[in-house]
Amino acid sequence: MSETDSFIAFDNVRKAFGERVVLDGVTLSIRAGETVALLGPSGGGKSTLLRTVNALCDFDAGAICVGPHVLESRGNGNQTEAVRQIRRLVGMVFQDFQLFPHLTALENIVEAPMHVAGKPRAAAVETARRLLERVGLADRENAYPSQLSGGQKQRVAIARTLAMEPTCLLCDEITSALDPELKHEVLEVLDDLRRDGMTLILVTHEIGFARRAADRVVVLCGGRILEEGPPSQVLDAPRHERTRQFLERTLA
Ligand SMILES: Nc1ncnc2c1ncn2[C@@H]1O[C@H](COP(=O)(O)OP(=O)(O)OP(=O)(O)O)[C@@H](O)[C@H]1O
Ligand SMILES: [Mg+2]
Repeated sequence: MSETDSFIAFDNVRKAFGERVVLDGVTLSIRAGETVALLGPSGGGKSTLLRTVNALCDFDAGAICVGPHVLESRGNGNQTEAVRQIRRLVGMVFQDFQLFPHLTALENIVEAPMHVAGKPRAAAVETARRLLERVGLADRENAYPSQLSGGQKQRVAIARTLAMEPTCLLCDEITSALDPELKHEVLEVLDDLRRDGMTLILVTHEIGFARRAADRVVVLCGGRILEEGPPSQVLDAPRHERTRQFLERTLA
């Protein structure tokens, strides 16, 4: 992969919490429009790696490039502007939705475009309605989170992130808290975004979805990339015993 192809590039990123090394020299390039499934055992550093991309977590050494913007390791100067630009390009969706409980679905979605991006209310509402329709919730704009199912809440959360018009979505186990049928409706939305050219980095235990939808599977274990490649190779013929073990346990 040439440098110019990459939209997100981790260059030898290292992160420790106290004595515990959590990212141990991660180098990884992700192309614009690529769907990457990030797998690996609990505690392997997957969430930490995602969080470094939009600066929810700093790091000790290395660098991360997102488009033309560069995040340097902790202490390397003022990065406020880079962080602001990167957060415009990269949205994040969480396992527990993180919706505002006191706001309706529609109000959750217009919040950031109006108050962070300064969009006029009428335009923000129009975009929010279009996004609710896109995630199959056109008829629920006035529902509060407590009146929605887990799958519906997660789809509102995705719509809320999309309202800031990111080119990349980071998804941290966004279907893990959902029943199988509700998982399916959220995965359908991801599939639609993928076909539309969104860059997706998904931490997931949905091996079936990774096999079908990911361009590449990356296995992170002990803060290092253990292996990476096309789903058919990593999932069906893993090179490492540790990957084989992880897949057996996940599929059991
Ligand atoms: N804020 C923190 N302070 C101290 N240690 C942390 C912190 N956040 C994460 N860790 C540690 O870093 C390691 C990696 O955590 P991380 O959440 O990135 O793993 P993960 O691969 O996402 O795991 P899981 O599959 O269970 O979500 C773990 O050992 C965890 O305990
Ligand atoms: Mg995690």
